[in-house]
Amino acid sequence: QVENIENHSKQKLLVVANRLPITASRIGEDSWSLEVSAGGLVSALLGVNEVDAKWIGWAGVNVPDEVGKISLTKALAEKSCIPVFLEEDIVDQYYNGYCNNILWPLFHYLGLPQEDRLATTRSFETQFNAYKRANELFADIVCEHFEEGDSVWCHDYHLMFLPKCLKERNRNMKIGWFLHTPFPSSEIHRTLPSRSELLQSVLDADVVGFHTYDYARHFVSACTRILGLEGTPEGVEYQGRVTRVAAFPIGIDANRFKRVLENPDVQENIKIMEERFRGRKVLLGVDRLDMIKGIPQKVLAFEKFLEENPEWQDKVILIQIAVPTRTDVPEYQRLTSQVHEIVGRVNGRFGTLTEAPIHHLDRSIGFDALCALYAVTDVTLVTSLRDGMNLVSYEFVACQESKKGVLILSEFAGAAQSLGAGALLVNPWNISELAASYAQALNMSPDEREKRHRHNYAHVTTHSAKHWAEMFVSELKDTALEDKMRTRQ
Ligand code: G6P
Repeated sequence: QVENIENHSKQKLLVVANRLPITASRIGEDSWSLEVSAGGLVSALLGVNEVDAKWIGWAGVNVPDEVGKISLTKALAEKSCIPVFLEEDIVDQYYNGYCNNILWPLFHYLGLPQEDRLATTRSFETQFNAYKRANELFADIVCEHFEEGDSVWCHDYHLMFLPKCLKERNRNMKIGWFLHTPFPSSEIHRTLPSRSELLQSVLDADVVGFHTYDYARHFVSACTRILGLEGTPEGVEYQGRVTRVAAFPIGIDANRFKRVLENPDVQENIKIMEERFRGRKVLLGVDRLDMIKGIPQKVLAFEKFLEENPEWQDKVILIQIAVPTRTDVPEYQRLTSQVHEIVGRVNGRFGTLTEAPIHHLDRSIGFDALCALYAVTDVTLVTSLRDGMNLVSYEFVACQESKKGVLILSEFAGAAQSLGAGALLVNPWNISELAASYAQALNMSPDEREKRHRHNYAHVTTHSAKHWAEMFVSELKDTALEDKMRTRQ
């Protein structure tokens, strides 16, 4: 027993994700500036830093020279991060292509690209080969750092091929794989040319996790319908063993937000903003500028709301923080122009010489400023067309202990399953319903706001990111124990 505990304390967790929690930019031949990356995965995993974890991921930057590679590896080591270096053409085919132009839209029910079919088929294969190649490169680095007894936790749709690459090299490696996006209905997954290969690779993991029970169910039925495998209450039977499949809903570290709000500078900033917005209610959107986030729908609904409720025209503003993302993918470039056009039109129609109803920012804001903004907001709008979980909804709730604002939440975000009773749930495709929900939120009585906030706050503060990671890792460790017991029998 004692020996077991000692061994256990030496074991580490290798967290493998396409993007490291730190984004590096070069400021000299061998010097780097390091910044926290954007996105749901990073914000969740930042809440789990007590675990003895090492991070393995793409550095997010092209480093062609050896001096750069060595100095960046050194700088990142101080943050427990290990970079994977990818050549530019691999990044283009793997990250921009297969990950962000094929898997991402497909998993969010937006379908496969439909341009020229022949061209797509050809480039599809090139992109899939680059995807497999990139996953092999991740596997190389994992194997370099893996020691007996460590667990490997692979994340997201970028690394669906990784469990297979790792198991081929070391059958005894304990591997978890977690998807941060929805896993779509098997009818959608069936359209993907590499549908079987990806499912089989994921099944090489010991534990497969999703944010919601529905996504786990879709995955199991894809394995049954596409691969003809047996689903069991625990998961999927594959090659003489059961791969566990389960839901592990993610959360945030709510205390991190509460602590920042207590900071006197942040309090001062809150006062300044309250003064600036006096006499107006604040609606807020915080999203990466991605087609899954339903930003055009959100703004179109705001336009309809202003049209139908003229008494609100000079009493409300919409602040939309739209963080640029995946800017090399043409679909994202088109979306940026579309959003700018709608925002421009609404401001042109409803603005005055001194005020504009929409404040649209094409950039992220610092963490302290974000917390202050959440705290002064009356209504947050999460209108995703599909979203794995959506942690903006959690972050907003964590910052609303004094204001008790309203959360408008898409029923197609995973968070609808946990915050559904406190939020106003909407179908973002229905612009009229969305516009009506803005009015309902703005006119809601303080008692009802308080009741709804209490519900959400209790959930957000008890279902933390740390708890999520511990649940997943302990499930993974269980499978290791079971293996040991089986070999002893
Ligand atoms: C989502 C994905 C993450 C990804 C993030 C940011 O949250 O699930 O895996 O890191 O978006 O996107 P990016 O392409 O910039 O990494």
